[in-house]
Amino acid sequence: MSNSKPSFPPADQMEILISSGQIAERVRELGKQITADYRGHSIVLIGVLKGAAIFLADIARAIEVDNTFDFVAVSSYGRALVSSGAVKLIKDIDNPIEGKHVILVEDILDTGLTLSYLRGLMLQHKPSSLKIATCLDKPERRLVPIEADYVAFKIPNKFVIGYGMDYAERYRGVRDIRLFPEEATGH
Ligand code: PRP
Repeated sequence: MSNSKPSFPPADQMEILISSGQIAERVRELGKQITADYRGHSIVLIGVLKGAAIFLADIARAIEVDNTFDFVAVSSYGRALVSSGAVKLIKDIDNPIEGKHVILVEDILDTGLTLSYLRGLMLQHKPSSLKIATCLDKPERRLVPIEADYVAFKIPNKFVIGYGMDYAERYRGVRDIRLFPEEATGH
């Protein structure tokens, strides 16, 4: 590890992995698929803060069945303790989901620890059904067996920012999903 500090290069200098146009097209497709799967029902979309906020906003508008939002937050320190699998709930859902059709919405499915924990927790509330939608899936990184029902893009094990995803809380508002240069992390 070097002692250099993290730096925050401008996003437009980073290589685009998935363009905003490609994202919009996949969101439209997933919206159609979800609409067909839930026709005649209403859905509760539960976003995992903060990364999922932008994907949830887009997915909600691409779905043509009634939907409501809720949000949960989990501690990110749990991600550093990856081997222990420790994930802690910081913010729970606001409204009951018993008997409802629920979709957990994530920006990225990585080790799977966050979604495994959240899925277990949400199932305790006895929803009618529970599915998972994720914008990105990094299957190579999985530590626990979990798959999403709706995946916009499978990607290799690269550090990405944009479309909700951050580096040190920056870049979440970047429209494209871009490759963050590893040398800028200072590690
Ligand atoms: C990211 C992402 C998921 C989680 C996925 O959150 O939003 O919640 O990591 O990783 P996992 O599959 O290895 O558990 P992060 O902790 O970066 O917080 P953020 O959403 O606020 O950016």
